[in-house]
Formats: sequence, C-alpha cells, structure tokens
Amino acid sequence: MKKNVLISGGSGFIGTHLTALLLSKGYTVSILSRSEKQNKADVFYYKWDVATQFIEEEAVLKADYIIHLAGENIGEKRWTAKRKAAIIDSREKSSQLLYMVLKKHYKKLDAFISASAVGIYGAVNGEEICTENDAPANDFLGYVCQKWEDSIDFIENLNIRTVKIRTGLVLGKNEGFLKKLIPLFKYRLGSAIGSGKQYMPWIHVEDLCTIYLQAIQNAEMSGPYNAAVTDNTNNTIFSKTLARIFGYSIWLPNVPAIVLKMVLGEMSIIVLTGRRVSSEKILQTGFNFKFKNLEQALKDCL
Ligand SMILES: NC(=O)c1ccc[n+]([C@@H]2O[C@H](COP(=O)([O-])OP(=O)(O)OC[C@H]3O[C@@H](n4cnc5c(N)ncnc54)[C@H](OP(=O)(O)O)[C@@H]3O)[C@@H](O)[C@H]2O)c1
Repeated sequence: MKKNVLISGGSGFIGTHLTALLLSKGYTVSILSRSEKQNKADVFYYKWDVATQFIEEEAVLKADYIIHLAGENIGEKRWTAKRKAAIIDSREKSSQLLYMVLKKHYKKLDAFISASAVGIYGAVNGEEICTENDAPANDFLGYVCQKWEDSIDFIENLNIRTVKIRTGLVLGKNEGFLKKLIPLFKYRLGSAIGSGKQYMPWIHVEDLCTIYLQAIQNAEMSGPYNAAVTDNTNNTIFSKTLARIFGYSIWLPNVPAIVLKMVLGEMSIIVLTGRRVSSEKILQTGFNFKFKNLEQALKDCL
C-alpha cells in the first residue's frame, strides 16, 4: 500500500516540486488548498479555509505524513498591520486547525514536517554563522517563525515526530524570488542592494525537496534543521554571479537602502539584511547538497 503525504499549500512553488518528487518515489499526494482543484491520477485536492477553521477532514485522516508549507507570501505586499496578521495567521492558525483534527480523531502520523525560515535568526550582518541552537530574533520575521514553530510543538505533544525545515532563499526556474530578479539582470539592469554585504543563504529547490523526502524517510530526524548552503554568498556576490551568467559586469551603483525602505517599508529587511547559517546539522543526517556552488545552481535555474 502506497503511503500518503498531505501537503498544505502544495500547489505553490516548493509544493509543486515536492509533489513531483514524492510521486516519483511511489507516494500518493494530497494537497490542501483554498481553492477548488481537479484531482489527478495520484494527487487529490482538499479544501480548507483557515479563517473560518474549515477543513475537509478526510485529507488529514488518510495521511501518513503531513508537510505544512501553507502561508501567505512574505514578500508580496507591504507589511501593514493587516498584512502582518495574515502572514502570521496563515501559518499559526493553519497549524492549529491541523492539530485540532489530529487531536479530535486520535489520528497518528508517521511524521509532521513543517516549513520555517532562516529569517528566524533575524538580521545578523556580521560573520557569525547561526545554528539551530540560536534564539529567535526580535524582529517581525523572527516573531513569525517562532510563532510558526511553536504551533508545531503542539503537534509534537500528540506524540508525533515533528521536523522544522528552516529554509533559506529557494532557487528555482522562473520561480520564487529569482522570478523578480531575472528580467532585471537579463536586460543588464541588475545591481547589488544596500551595502551588498548582507548574506544570502540559498538552496536549490531540488535539494530542498530532497531534504523534505529525507525528513519523511529518516525516523531519526526531529526538531529544527537549517536548509541552506553555508558559503560566503552575500548580496554583492549573488548579484555579480547573476550578472556574469548573463554576460556582463554590474555597471549600475548599488540600489540605496533608503530607496528600498521608502518603496517597501519594513518589508525591506528581507532584502537589506541577512545572516549566515550552518548546514552542519542536516549534513550530519547523511544529506548531501547536489548544488553547493552558486553559479552552478543559478545556471540550472535559467
Ligand atoms: N520560497 C522561498 O524562498 C522560501 C524561503 C523560506 C521559507 N519559505 C516557506 O516555505 C513555504 C512554501 O513556500 P513557497 O515558496 O512554495 O510559497 P508559495 O509559492 O507562496 O506557496 C504557498 C502556498 O500556501 C498557500 N497559502 C497562501 N496563503 C494562504 C492562506 N492565507 N491560508 C492557507 N493557505 C495559504 C497557497 O496555496 P493555495 O492558494 O492553493 O491555497 C500557496 O500556494 C512558505 O510557508 C514559505 O514562507 C519559502
């Protein structure tokens, strides 16, 4: 009997890649979505509405594993008070909804694996390399990630193995944040941002999906894992590498931080700050990055 993996937010960028990988490994996949979608051969769609705490419970009841990716995109709109609440609620209240169904039906899972983000460590603009033992930062992203991870701890209290994947910037073909950058660099208008010194921990989507697969298969994995290559990629290196791939040297000055602060408001911390993160813990599980070199990873995404 094939094992079933339920992915919340499975129709997004990471979920689409993960679904393809899981199907190729012989799992069946269910996807929780806010909108009606047509079932496919091995993929079943279920509806939920986090705001009204509605969910088609069958999705949870037939799952062997749950992968929780759902959440409002953090870089899509300005962080007004309303938007901030939506970013938090779509993660925290969605975990709570899944928790309630699991608890109500005494439903056991082989594992519950949740996305989180390296933003939990906040802006660490020095050389320090953040590990999973470091405390969450005091800024908005640190707060979001902490709330998100705390909501997963309730599920762990149901004696379910839980894993939190603290994800870096995910590189994918015409997807994620690269989708916004590529047109600029293609027309030779790309440049570094702010000081350019902010670190950018990145991971290729293929490697990230392999980590999720491993989190399913390796019963020893539990707790938080950083999912990003540990290297010296900062915004200048990232921008220069991308420009080189498009055959030019950056000629424009760095985009001034003040401009981004005016345009993006508080959300500008996503692009103006960064931190380095350690991948030691995930490497200790036996995982190996297929893409360790930024240029090679970017070329694969173009
Ligand atoms: N991509 C990255 O670089 C990156 C980095 C770090 C962490 N992460 C985290 O990884 C997760 C997946 O990322 P992704 O890049 O695949 O994001 P994505 O493409 O935006 O997909 C997220 C999915 O979540 C669902 N969703 C959005 N708002 C929701 C809401 N209010 N209630 C319930 N579901 C909602 C949507 O599915 P439906 O429209 O079908 O409901 C959406 O397709 C996110 O939580 C993200 O924060 C991503």
